[in-house]
This record gives sequence, structure tokens and C-alpha cells, in this order.
Amino acid sequence: MSKPRTRQSSAAPKALILGGVTGLLGQSLTNALAGRGWQVETLSRTDGCLTDIAFLTQRLARSAADVVFNAVAWTRVDDAEDHPEQARLLNCTLPDALARILKSIGQGHLVHFSTDFVFSGQGRTPWREEDTPKPASVYGRTKLAGERAVLQILPDRSCVLRTAWLFGPGRKNFVETILNKSRIMDAVQVVFDQTGSPTYTLDLARWSAALAEKRAVGIWHAVNSGRANWAELAAEVVALAGSRCQVIPIPSGQWPQKATRPAWSVLDVTKLSNALGQPPRPWPQALREYVYSNF
Ligand SMILES: NC(=O)c1ccc[n+]([C@@H]2O[C@H](COP(=O)([O-])OP(=O)(O)OC[C@H]3O[C@@H](n4cnc5c(N)ncnc54)[C@H](OP(=O)(O)O)[C@@H]3O)[C@@H](O)[C@H]2O)c1
Repeated sequence: MSKPRTRQSSAAPKALILGGVTGLLGQSLTNALAGRGWQVETLSRTDGCLTDIAFLTQRLARSAADVVFNAVAWTRVDDAEDHPEQARLLNCTLPDALARILKSIGQGHLVHFSTDFVFSGQGRTPWREEDTPKPASVYGRTKLAGERAVLQILPDRSCVLRTAWLFGPGRKNFVETILNKSRIMDAVQVVFDQTGSPTYTLDLARWSAALAEKRAVGIWHAVNSGRANWAELAAEVVALAGSRCQVIPIPSGQWPQKATRPAWSVLDVTKLSNALGQPPRPWPQALREYVYSNF
């Protein structure tokens, strides 16, 4: 477990971030919370086996964090189809254990992250928090099981933030991949028949901190405003990069992937907007900030 990034007064809230050193979201969370004056500790696989309950119990008790943020997950959606048990271990057994341990300790709030892939994708209006999930992949099913476990075990001291289509610094992501391809290729093929909510990890980290400071409970949809399909997102990236690379929209049938993706997974942000006092900024604005400040 790493030392706190910042030395704060004893009144500063204390965060323990699982995945806070290497995760795409975890790194943004670590920086955002430290920047808001939190004492930040991280917990990663280099500290020990996170699915070893005895180890986890000892580390959570020793940390005595006010809020535990779980940004660890099995995120390789296609690989999950071939390794359902490993995916379940990280996406369900781990958050289940975190909730049980915090319950037995009797203190600490849990902020857990989930996904738009809990929805079927058979819709045409943005999914609200209370809509019925119907995942179509191992990843989606294991993430849904994880969020249900957390909320059932620790209903008064946990929240689940469903997010989607993340881009941000520190780890490979779709936007970075398109940027790199646009530098060396004349054209890229990108699917157009999956529509979702592109989301900047720095924004998500700020909303997560704000909700944690309110000790929010229940399910929250936490994505940037607006929607896009993958080809539209890629076209925006290429335009921002000033590249002449052409984005060629293709149907997903021409880009076979092992796991089924939702065709429509746009998330409704009304609840988050009310809590923040304003809607999350539109994804193109966030994308511009990410591209201009990192590439
Ligand atoms: N990325 C997206 O587009 C997206 C979309 C919707 C929802 N989400 C959700 O958002 C959350 C954060 O996702 P992310 O994209 O930031 O994930 P990520 O970049 O893949 O990071 C996952 C983190 O989990 C850690 N981890 C994986 N397997 C581990 C293991 N066996 N033991 C210990 N640590 C392990 C990784 O550590 P190592 O670096 O050591 O492997 C890494 O720190 C997840 O709950 C995910 O389901 C993400």
C-alpha cells in the first residue's frame, strides 16, 4: 500500500483507492482526490493479492479509510467470454468482499464503479438508473452481480457509479489508439452501429469525489453529456489531431468481436446533474481538453 500522496491535517478525509496506481480511472481518481485535499492511499496487486480475503481485511482495517474507491475490474470484455471465473472473481467476488469487510469493520463508505454494459442495448432513449438491466456479455453479467452485491450488503454506505467509454491519460484507451493510427494510416475503419456516452476520466474522478464527499448512496449514471457512435468519436479525434486520416464507418458485423456489445448504451445523467447543480460538460469539450493537453 503506497504512502499518502499528501500530508494533510487530521481533519482531511482519507481515501483508499483500489487500482489507483495503474488503472485508467484509478490514476485520475488518485490525482483528483489528492488535489481536493484528501489523504490518499492506493492498493494494487503489487501490495498483495486483492482477492485474498484475509489480506484485504487486514489492509482495509489498517487503512481505516473514510471512503474506499474500487477502480479494480476485469475490463477485457472479449477475454471475459473465455475466462468467466476470473472475470467474476474481480468484478463480483472482490466488490462483494469489500462490502462485507466494511460492514464488519463498521465504518467506511464504498464507491464502486460499474458499466453501461449492464444494459441490453435494445433501446432508443438514455438508460436511467432505475431501468432494468439485461447484460448480453460475461463482462456485463459479472459487473451487474458486483453492483448488486455491494448495494445489498452495504445499502447505507455504498454507491455504484455506472460509467462508459472512458478516455483519459495514463493508460491505453480508444481515443489514444485512434490518435496513434491517424498518424500512420490514411484510413481507419470504425463501427457506427453502437452508440454510447464517451467519458473523460478527469471529469468522472471529480464527480466521484463530489459524490463521495456527500456520502452518496445507490446507483448513479456518471458520464459526460451527449452521445456518439464509435465512428463519430473517432472522427472527432482525427479532426482534433488535424489529421487527414479518413474514418470509414462500418457495421459491427464487419468487425467481429467475441463479446456482444449493446447497440444503444447512452446513460441518462439527470440524477448526476441534480446532485452536481449542473449537467456534466459535453463529451466533445472534454475530449478537446484531453487531446490538447496530452498529445
Ligand atoms: N474503460 C472503460 O471504458 C469503462 C467503461 C465502463 C465502465 N468501466 C468501469 O470503470 C472502472 C475502471 O475501469 P478502467 O478502465 O479504469 O480499468 P483499467 O484501466 O483496466 O484498470 C483496471 C485496474 O484493475 C487492476 N487489476 C486488474 N486485474 C487485477 C488483479 N487480478 N489484481 C489486482 N488488480 C487488478 C489493474 O491493475 P494492473 O494495471 O496491475 O493490471 C488496474 O489498476 C471499472 O469498474 C470498469 O468496469 C470502464
